[in-house]
Amino acid sequence: MSANDRPTGQPTAPHDSAFLKACRREPVPHTPVWFMRQAGRSLPEYRKVREGIAMLDSCMRPELVTEITMQPVRRHDVDAAIYFSDIVVPLKAIGIDLDIKPGVGPVVEQPIRTRADLARLRDLTPEDVWYVTEAIGLLTAELGATPLIGFAGAPFTLASYLVEGGPSRNHEHTKALMYGDPELWADLLDRLADITAGFLKVQIEAGASAVQLFDSWVGALAPADYRRSVMPASRKVFEAVAGYGVPRIHFGVGTGELLGLMGEAGADVVGADWRIPLDEASRRIGPGKAVQGNLDPAVLFAPTEAVRAKTGEVLQAAEGLEGHIFNLGHGVLPDTDPDALTRLVEDVHTRTAR
Ligand code: CP3
Repeated sequence: MSANDRPTGQPTAPHDSAFLKACRREPVPHTPVWFMRQAGRSLPEYRKVREGIAMLDSCMRPELVTEITMQPVRRHDVDAAIYFSDIVVPLKAIGIDLDIKPGVGPVVEQPIRTRADLARLRDLTPEDVWYVTEAIGLLTAELGATPLIGFAGAPFTLASYLVEGGPSRNHEHTKALMYGDPELWADLLDRLADITAGFLKVQIEAGASAVQLFDSWVGALAPADYRRSVMPASRKVFEAVAGYGVPRIHFGVGTGELLGLMGEAGADVVGADWRIPLDEASRRIGPGKAVQGNLDPAVLFAPTEAVRAKTGEVLQAAEGLEGHIFNLGHGVLPDTDPDALTRLVEDVHTRTAR
């Protein structure tokens, strides 16, 4: 059964979907489920359509983006689609020389480390990402009542790739700049906030029903540093899209100590990874915000009964919370059995049906 043909009392528009109701902390017919990185390498049908096409090239083909975004919706009956793209797409679109290397991640030819380098970060225009507008038009027509989540990388996480020149375990160049030249750092994050806000606006104006700001690596920072050196830029992004009234989700890995501040930055929904139970996460996030998460993606490699048990723990920790969106604590791992994801969606829907 697909999201579009459930028999009675079913939503006819994204606005009435379980996902958006949960974001707004309204009563839901069942706990909504979607997965970060649900579109991608765990699916054989994804690997097939991507054959011979480089990752960044695939992001610029509206028909292909539409097909890849739809694949997990068709297969798993998830409650929301996430737009197929990557956090570095807007940087590529303004002319930064970068590539996504398979098995490595984004790699930047010339890292950004000096004031002169900032000039390379010009504002993003809708024309720079025309393919996003076109793909979202195709997608919203095909999705019907299933909401589409747009997304972008948060200023800190984008800065980390730009300053390091690629993925980094310790973020040493990034932190050196942040502590060593706070003024340049603030200007860099402010530039990235404008680019990110521009990218989210394009997606919302094209029809995205919600947006998620990924600050994947910000868990590397202590709360005082987050407040001083990151929060102003993330807040600028959230404020720039506040007027649209679409829910704004914020997520990072290992952010147990930052959850309150990430809510304070302006999110309506805060995502948590698996290192913290959702009831405690919600206490830290504070009232008035929904919570998203947080099954450890590695749990999906365990036998079905073990997955069910861990799913039960997540649901129990979320019981009584106003607004819970079920998700993994980080993205789907590439070798995940797609059937385990389908079973998980069904399990959450069945156990939470009201
Ligand atoms: O289904 C979805 O969630 C939508 C697609 C999506 C991709 N990247 C596609 C992708 C999303 C939401 C992202 C966001 C993203 N990209 C983040 C934030 C989310 C997170 O995981 O924390 C980050 C940090 C990146 C940067 C990035 N891009 C990494 C670390 C990698 C993996 C490198 C590798 O090969 O191991 C990428 C590449 C990437 N982005 C792939 C996909 C499907 C794999 C490339 C491929 O299939 O060839």
